Parts: sequence; structure tokens; C-alpha cells
Amino acid sequence: MDNSLKKIISSGFSSLTSAFGSDNSSQSALGIDIGSSAIKVVQLKKKGGKAVLETYGAISLGPYAQTEIGQVTNLPTDEIVKALQDVMKESNVTTRLGVMAIPSSSSLIFTLSLPANVTEDKLPMIVPIEARKYIPVPISEISLDWFMIPQEVISFENSMNKQSSTVAPAPSVEVLVVAIHNDILTKFQEILKKTELRSDSFEMEIFSNIRSAFDHDIAPILLIDFGASKTKLSIVESGIVRVFHVVNRGSADISKNIAQSLSIPFTEAEKLKRTVGLETNSNPQVAEIARLATEYIFSDTNSVVLAYEKKYNKNISKVILTGGGSLLKGFKERASDNFHVEVVHANPFSKTEAPAFLDNVLTQSGPEFAVAIGLALRSLS
Ligand SMILES: Nc1ncnc2c1ncn2[C@@H]1O[C@H](COP(=O)(O)OP(=O)(O)OP(=O)(O)O)[C@@H](O)[C@H]1O
Ligand SMILES: [Mg+2]
Repeated sequence: MDNSLKKIISSGFSSLTSAFGSDNSSQSALGIDIGSSAIKVVQLKKKGGKAVLETYGAISLGPYAQTEIGQVTNLPTDEIVKALQDVMKESNVTTRLGVMAIPSSSSLIFTLSLPANVTEDKLPMIVPIEARKYIPVPISEISLDWFMIPQEVISFENSMNKQSSTVAPAPSVEVLVVAIHNDILTKFQEILKKTELRSDSFEMEIFSNIRSAFDHDIAPILLIDFGASKTKLSIVESGIVRVFHVVNRGSADISKNIAQSLSIPFTEAEKLKRTVGLETNSNPQVAEIARLATEYIFSDTNSVVLAYEKKYNKNISKVILTGGGSLLKGFKERASDNFHVEVVHANPFSKTEAPAFLDNVLTQSGPEFAVAIGLALRSLS
């Protein structure tokens, strides 16, 4: 198959790599985001305390599954390896140090409330027992990681709650727990081995997103990662994830519904989705299909936000959008109407040094690359 067909976002970075010199790659790191519809890679290099953008690129996975660009895939390891090798080659990736994101669909994130006298050293014993209540598979099949929510955040919440309630909440410690199926770790290790990449760690995609999309925000922020297959919601305070939820709808559902309703090929529907979006004046039928999918996402999101606001007696102060789906025309404006707070697209490339002539294209494609940039930034720091 013609390689150019596999590319949905052209990167054309040979110029970039040569501008920065690709010979010294010892301090460079590659962020690798294997999404359900595309792989995104970003190579950064540390120079004078700054993260310099060396190259980036994306490749659609549809053609590796004998289907169209934009389609959601579930590929075997060898096909992912092929696609990753192709995108690394086309983007002139030079480093062998890579970090990969664990997709939210292969993991669980939840918060445990434990008695106030539980100390950090007890967690290795307590967390696996408590986590069983949340995890539908045998504990031996998963890897667990956890993070104790700092007392400042919890005591602030408790004092806020006291103002509105006569009953003081029982003191507790809260622990954020991440559970990853071992199969995915084995699969990712195999991908790294076959692509001859070294890696010091994996990271949950949500944490990479936060690193690249946030500044030093303290007030609660809702992060929406509108991907091809799923929409990932997180409410984050002081950089700490307080709530995480996955909505089982993504941007590929819109293309699929357009294709079905108008009896047109998926590729054509994908194009129509991008040109029309939610704008009713150009094509009301397409806009209505897009509206139905996004309203489903907003309705689920509103329940998550309401539950959070009720539990902690705090309001969301801002919404940050990532994921290619959030580029849908009119989506940001509709989100502003829905949430009544400031809504912005993430601008993760602003955390990197890049030639000024790329400013526009980097701002445009930033939301799609948020996870890959966050991964590379982690590896550099
Ligand atoms: N300008 C645009 N307008 C509307 N949709 C867009 C636009 N650009 C990209 N998309 C959609 O964004 C999706 C790809 O986004 P992204 O790369 O974030 O998904 P992914 O990471 O592969 O998916 P997931 O995170 O769900 O596994 C595709 O469904 C694509 O059609
Ligand atoms: Mg994604």
C-alpha cells in the first residue's frame, strides 16, 4: 500500500530535524501515543534547560487493518510495530529512547478512601486488598500503582464541606490507584523490543495529557480528551487527578453514523465531519449527526461534573480540550455554552521551542499531540 495513504496528518519534518541537527541524539526522547485510530510521535531534545522540538508525526492505523483512515482499530502487535516503524521513519526520528502511553481502555483509575491513621508504608499491603472491589479480573493479572493525595488537598476539601454542612466528614486519607492489565505491559514491551527502542517506563495517557496541557493551575479543571474511540474525562486539582471517567463515544462514531445515515463510504463521511462539524448552515443533516454524538458526551460529562461538585462543594473553573475529536468545528463554542466557564484547546507545543514559522500549524495540531508531547517531556525532565 502507498505509504502516503496511511498518513492523515502530514508532518514534513525533515526540515525541522536538519534545522536543529539530528546528529546528536543522546539527550533526545520520543513520546509514543498509540491511539485507537492513529499513532502520534514527538521527539524532543533538552537544550539549555529547554525542550526543543526536533520532530513529530502521525500515522493513521486504519490502512494497517485493511480499513479506512480514521477508523478505530485493534491491531495485533506486529501491525503496530510496522506502523510505528513507518511513522518513525517518515518523521525522521533519530533517538532510540522512547516512552509509551498506556491507553485508558487498558486500565482503571479510581480513588480509595482509607481511615486517617493509614500511613504510606501500609499501602503496599492495603491497596491490593481494597482494589479487589473495583477490579473485575484476578488481582494476579494486573499491575497496581498508587499515589497518596496530599493532606493539603483533602483538608481544604473538608474545611470547604464544613461550611455547607453541619456534619463534619470523617477524616480520611485518599489514594489514587491505577490498575493496568499485565497483558498490555507485555504487548508494549514486545513493541519496544521489535522497534529496537529503549524505555525506562510507561505512563498512563491521562498523566501525559496533564503534563503537556496544564500550567500551574490549582483550581479544579476539567480535561476532555475527545479521541477516535473514547472520550476521557478527568477533573484535576493542583495537578492531581481527583476524578477519572471514560465515555464510550468518540469522534469515529460521528463518521460512522454519517456514513450509515447518508449511505456514503466512511472516508467521505470522515471528510464531511471535518468540513461541516456542528455548523448547521453548511449541511444540517451532517451537523445534526455530529450534534447527537456530542450531546451524548456532554450529558455524561455533566453527570460526572455534578457528582464532583456535590461531593467536594467546588466548581470547575476551566475546561481544557485535547484529542483530535475536539477539533470538530463548533465543539469548543458548544462546550462553552454547556459548562459556562472558560473553554480552551490545549496548546502543548507551547511547552517546546520550535521555529516561529511553525506556530500556526503547531497550535492547530496541538490537541492531537498532547499525550505524545507529555510523554517526551517526562523523559527529558
Ligand atoms: N478537524 C477535525 N474535525 C473533526 N474531527 C477531527 C478533526 N481532526 C481530527 N479529528 C478526529 O479526531 C480523531 C482522532 O483523534 P485522536 O488522534 O486524538 O484519537 P486517538 O488517540 O486515535 O483515539 P483514542 O484516544 O480514542 O484511542 C479521529 O476520529 C478524527 O476524525
Ligand atoms: Mg488518544
